[in-house]
Amino acid sequence: MNCRSRKPKPKEEDVELKPKSTSKAQSRKRKVKDEGLINSSSIIENDDNLVKKSSKSKKKGKNTEKMEVETDESVCLEMDSEEENEDEKVNKGEILKLKPVKVVQRKGKARSSSTSSSSNSKKKLKRTVIDTECRLYGEPIPDNEARQQWPHRYEDQVKEDKTASTSSKKEIDEEEEVLIVRRHYRQAEVDHIIYNLGDNIFIQGDNGSQDYIGRIVEFFETTDKRAFFTARWFFRAEDTVISKSNASLVDEKRLFYSDYKNDNPLDCITSKIEIVEVYPNVDLVAKKETIPSCDFYYDMEYSESYSTFSNLKPVSSGTSSTATNNAVSDVAMSKNKKSFKKASVNGKAEKPSLKLLDLYAGCGGMSTGLCLGAAVSGVNLTPSWAVDFNKHACQSLRENHPTSQVRNETAENFLMVLKEWVKLCREFSLLGTRCKETQNSLVMNDEEDEGDDDAPTPPGVFEVAKLLEITYGDPNNIKNIGLYFKVRWKGYGPEEDTWEPFNGLMECQERVREFVTRGFHENILPLPGDVDVICGGPPCQGISGFNRFRNKAEPLKDEKNHQVVVFMDIVEFLKPRYVLMENVVDLLKFSKGFLGRYAIGRLVSLDYQARLGLMAAGCYGIPQFRRRVFLWGALPTEILPAYPLPTHEVVQRGVVPLEFEQNTVAYDADHQFKLKSALVLSDAIMDLPPVTNDESRDQIPYVQAAQTDLQKLLRSSKQSEFISPICTPLSIYVGIFVYSSFFAELMGINASEETLPMLYDHLPYRLNQDDFERVSRVPKKKGANFRDLGGLVIHADNKVELDKNAERAVLPSGKPVVPDYALSWKDGYSTEPFGRLWWDETVSTVVTRAQPHNRVITHPEQDRVLTVRENARIQGFPDYYKLSGPVKERYIQVGNAVAVPVARALGHALSVAYQQIGSGHPLLKLPSNF
Ligand SMILES: C[S@@+](CC[C@H](N)C(=O)[O-])C[C@H]1O[C@@H](n2cnc3c(N)ncnc32)[C@H](O)[C@@H]1O
Repeated sequence: MNCRSRKPKPKEEDVELKPKSTSKAQSRKRKVKDEGLINSSSIIENDDNLVKKSSKSKKKGKNTEKMEVETDESVCLEMDSEEENEDEKVNKGEILKLKPVKVVQRKGKARSSSTSSSSNSKKKLKRTVIDTECRLYGEPIPDNEARQQWPHRYEDQVKEDKTASTSSKKEIDEEEEVLIVRRHYRQAEVDHIIYNLGDNIFIQGDNGSQDYIGRIVEFFETTDKRAFFTARWFFRAEDTVISKSNASLVDEKRLFYSDYKNDNPLDCITSKIEIVEVYPNVDLVAKKETIPSCDFYYDMEYSESYSTFSNLKPVSSGTSSTATNNAVSDVAMSKNKKSFKKASVNGKAEKPSLKLLDLYAGCGGMSTGLCLGAAVSGVNLTPSWAVDFNKHACQSLRENHPTSQVRNETAENFLMVLKEWVKLCREFSLLGTRCKETQNSLVMNDEEDEGDDDAPTPPGVFEVAKLLEITYGDPNNIKNIGLYFKVRWKGYGPEEDTWEPFNGLMECQERVREFVTRGFHENILPLPGDVDVICGGPPCQGISGFNRFRNKAEPLKDEKNHQVVVFMDIVEFLKPRYVLMENVVDLLKFSKGFLGRYAIGRLVSLDYQARLGLMAAGCYGIPQFRRRVFLWGALPTEILPAYPLPTHEVVQRGVVPLEFEQNTVAYDADHQFKLKSALVLSDAIMDLPPVTNDESRDQIPYVQAAQTDLQKLLRSSKQSEFISPICTPLSIYVGIFVYSSFFAELMGINASEETLPMLYDHLPYRLNQDDFERVSRVPKKKGANFRDLGGLVIHADNKVELDKNAERAVLPSGKPVVPDYALSWKDGYSTEPFGRLWWDETVSTVVTRAQPHNRVITHPEQDRVLTVRENARIQGFPDYYKLSGPVKERYIQVGNAVAVPVARALGHALSVAYQQIGSGHPLLKLPSNF
């Protein structure tokens, strides 16, 4: 049988990168962008709203846009020129060799095959129902019944629809041509085998490639007497976003059902296959037992919309020929489900509660936002555990999240200690014995037990008074990795505490038992099933465009990318209900998005539902663009959370690989919506008191009342607006403004310094004398930078050079006013070095290093870089959030954080899903007063 498959093979060669004709609006947008860093208002005035997602642009690359050079980790001053070139290539669209999302192609090719003018397809088009080897079989379906079930197929009906069409309808028709049908059938015969509606089949692949898989949902004869079947596709993992590169993570017999259908000539049918529907189960061993012998099985749907893997929708028609096995045996899942039911039944007073583990927590931007957002919509998400190997970040976490067990260790060691902890709890028969009463009576109190037995110990003998902490690793730095306990020695104080290896404490089993028992009841470490939500941003420094030694061929072999594996290993071990992983956009750019695909593949292989979205922080009400990737995961017992739609306009920067462009969280262009105006720098920081380059006070008074809504919001107290339930307008009103200066004004209270709390972290990174001189000489005007320091020639192509006819100006130190690195940055084309921000601008990305050498981070009107607090404001941290550690470390914590308003919006989406009031749709509109 010479069959042209209707389902394109997912090959790299399929890539179509040529930008197609653009709409007027799109070309206008490009033009503005090509002008480089532009005034935000010039874009926002543009009626082609930039947070709209053009339905057309889904398939058309934006590869002519400027790329934002962004990195979460420390920015190297001397950026590797090779990498810079690569970034430029991205700008030109040269290295976006990523195939467009296959499901889009699949639709397109299917259409073209049925209407194509190629000789091969013409042959197909001539095929008629009288072909003996391949024919529609039996009696046609009665006309009435067929018209009712497939009205779009019948000519008179289609004509009616066409006359009533609007312009947007026309667009749809253009994209989805419908074969006009004479009659439908229930059966067909191909090579002497009878096929029925609902049968699962192999469909011949292209040129010897493996067969495709589908379910027959229609048999019909067209008005020109051609015989077709319609297939609804099953995807193999390699056909989804997971792609070939990571398909090995997923069982090869596992398929994903999809919504995608297309029409194919009958002779594309190769054979029948048995596909069984099973229930997804995160207990993979138990799941295996539920899978009967079959060719393939499926337990989830896949949709291109936000690369979503989700629970199967309930079957509506009787066309399924599958056996359904709904047996679920996973303990964690049933336990979790039960506890939600309990909370929702008792309901009224008790707020539903969830426990959060924040991995790679930094100073806690992500967990702070998630908890605030969940609280807004009525869920008590408690920061319960956090892990970071940076001690300063841990200190910030402890100060701001007192409920959290903050662990200053690597995530790898955290996983090891979790595994050891389970063993210990099992050894002391604790598993399953936790209850509230014992918890209260067993509160750990270091002081209380001290010196409880004052009996003298013989000289030279040390006795363990109590164990204080547990860790895994090499806490004594003696190259001896293992499980350790921190010991308080009898008769000694805390300064004499030491880390002792577990195997050296064999004589002290009673002390170990005491520690483990107390720790178990106090939840010092989570056990599998204890954690409701894991969030975290595993660093992947191996993918950064600034890293010249990136391993593109095998990204996971690079130690620097290993954390995404560790993150998923922890998910696998703890099996939380929900997962939220955050990362930089490079995750999707580097090595054809290998790591992003890996992360989704791991979640899906663990039977989590999953979806991936790209969110720009500025869309949620801060003056910063900052785009990041967010990957949701949810157990099959839960509703997969959605992505919150933008509330604000924002200046768009940077490119996303073509294939992931449609993962951008945005309204569709044809959707009616109204966004608030983009925020600018003045909205966030103009109310803050002036400070100099030498400012060293850790806290200073505010000098004026908050002016803008954002300032008022950020000045609010912990108890106020961030956690006021959105459902009661009065409480929002009271909540938002209580304790704030605005409230004080409303109430006739003088918002003087005394009534206002103190302002923390309003400290700038102290510039050395030379840089201070340079910054002081940059004029206080919009767009000013090192090019305003004189002695330079700027060529027509914007390249800057020293003016050979002028003497090079020097600073009092003898160093040049314009340093060489400023001239050579980005080959002399950059305007960033010593750039001043301006009040009406949106910041690209808050960075971790406050060096003005290659970044626009100078205050508009003061001769210094933005302070830690100003950066924190631009990241949406409330003013009450106090950072710890040296100033440089505080910048790193703030620059590394997930912008709080983004996490807050995601926290709301989580809470909506948890309370099962979500629709399952990938996008969620935030309440107007959010
Ligand atoms: C991008 S930051 C996370 C920011 C955080 N999600 C927030 O919103 O504030 C990454 C953090 O991972 C930490 N980190 C890096 N490698 C780690 C490891 N192997 N184990 C634990 N923490 C690690 C760094 O110290 C840094 O604070």
